[in-house]
Amino acid sequence: MLIQLSEKTTMERQAWLQHAISPRPICFASTIDAQGKVNLSPFSFFNLFSSNPPIVVFSPSRRGRDNALKNTLENVLEVPEVVINIVDYNMVQQVSLSSCEYPKGVNEFEKAGFTQMPATSVRPPLVKEAPIQLECKVLEVKSLGETGGAGQLVIAEVICMHVADEVLNEAGTMIDQRKLDLVARCGGNWYARVNAHHLFEVEKPNTQLGMGIDALPYNIQRSQFLTGNHLGQLANLTAIPDIDPAYSDDQLKNIVQYYAINPTEMEQELHRHAARLLDQGRVADAWQVLLSGG
Ligand SMILES: Cc1cc2nc3c(=O)[nH]c(=O)nc-3n(C[C@H](O)[C@H](O)[C@H](O)COP(=O)(O)O)c2cc1C
Repeated sequence: MLIQLSEKTTMERQAWLQHAISPRPICFASTIDAQGKVNLSPFSFFNLFSSNPPIVVFSPSRRGRDNALKNTLENVLEVPEVVINIVDYNMVQQVSLSSCEYPKGVNEFEKAGFTQMPATSVRPPLVKEAPIQLECKVLEVKSLGETGGAGQLVIAEVICMHVADEVLNEAGTMIDQRKLDLVARCGGNWYARVNAHHLFEVEKPNTQLGMGIDALPYNIQRSQFLTGNHLGQLANLTAIPDIDPAYSDDQLKNIVQYYAINPTEMEQELHRHAARLLDQGRVADAWQVLLSGG
C-alpha cells in the first residue's frame, strides 16, 4: 500500500506517521512563564541530536483543532529554559493525565500529582519522581508553519542532568540500561515499555569494518535457513575465519556422519544448526559449523 501524504488530512498524516515512527521517547517538559507559573506536559516528537554541543529537540505543535500555541511553547518563548524529565513505567498514567488541555496557568504538577524539586541552573522545576532530569537552556524555536499541526521545534542545550542512584551501574560510573523501565509513545493509544526483559545487545565493533553480506560465500547468502539477522551477524566479522580443526560439537558430528552421502541435505542441516547457534549469539561457533560443509 502506498500512502501519499499530500492526499491525507493532518490527523490522518499524523496517525500514519506516528504508527510508523515508533516508539518515540517522551520529553516530559517542565517550563515556566514570565510570572513564574509552572507548566508540565509530555511531547514525543523528541530526540537527542548532538552531543557536542549536547542538543535535544522537541516539538509542541500548533493545536490541530484551533491552531492555538501550546502553553509549553508560549512559556519557552517567554522564559527560554526547560527541564526535560525522562518518563518511566511507574509514571505513565500520570504523564498521560498531565497532557489534558488545562488552561494556561494551571500547574500540571498538581493536576497529575507530581512533586516539584528546584533545578540548579534553570527556573522550571524538576519532576522528583522521574529517574532522570535534564536541565536545558532553549537556544532557538524554529516554526515549521503557521497552520494547525505545524511543528514548533524547541532546540535546547542540556546544561546538566540528574540521574537517580538506583539506575546507575554498580561502580556508579554510568546508567545501567537494564535498571531503567522507560516508556515510549507509539501510534494511537499504544505505548512501549523498555526494561531488562525487552533489551538485547547487537555487537558492533566500531574499530573494524565488517566484511559485508556481499562477501559471504554464495551458498550462505542464499541459504533458506539463515535470515537477514543471521547474515548480518556472520558478515560483521572482518573476514571469513579459518577452519579450526579442534572445533567440534555433538550436533555437528551427527550431521557430518548421518548426511555424509547427501551433501545437499548436509548443507541444509549445517545451516539449520548454524542458525540456532547464531540465535544464541555464538557467531564463532556458527562459522565453524558452516565451514565444516567444505
Ligand atoms: C505521551 C504523549 C506525547 C505527546 N507528544 C506530543 C508532541 O510531541 N507534540 C505535541 O504537540 N503534543 C503532544 N502531546 C499532547 C500534549 O501533551 C498536549 O497537547 C498538552 O495538552 C500540551 O500541554 P500544554 O498546552 O500545557 O503545553 C503528547 C501527549 C502525550 C500523552
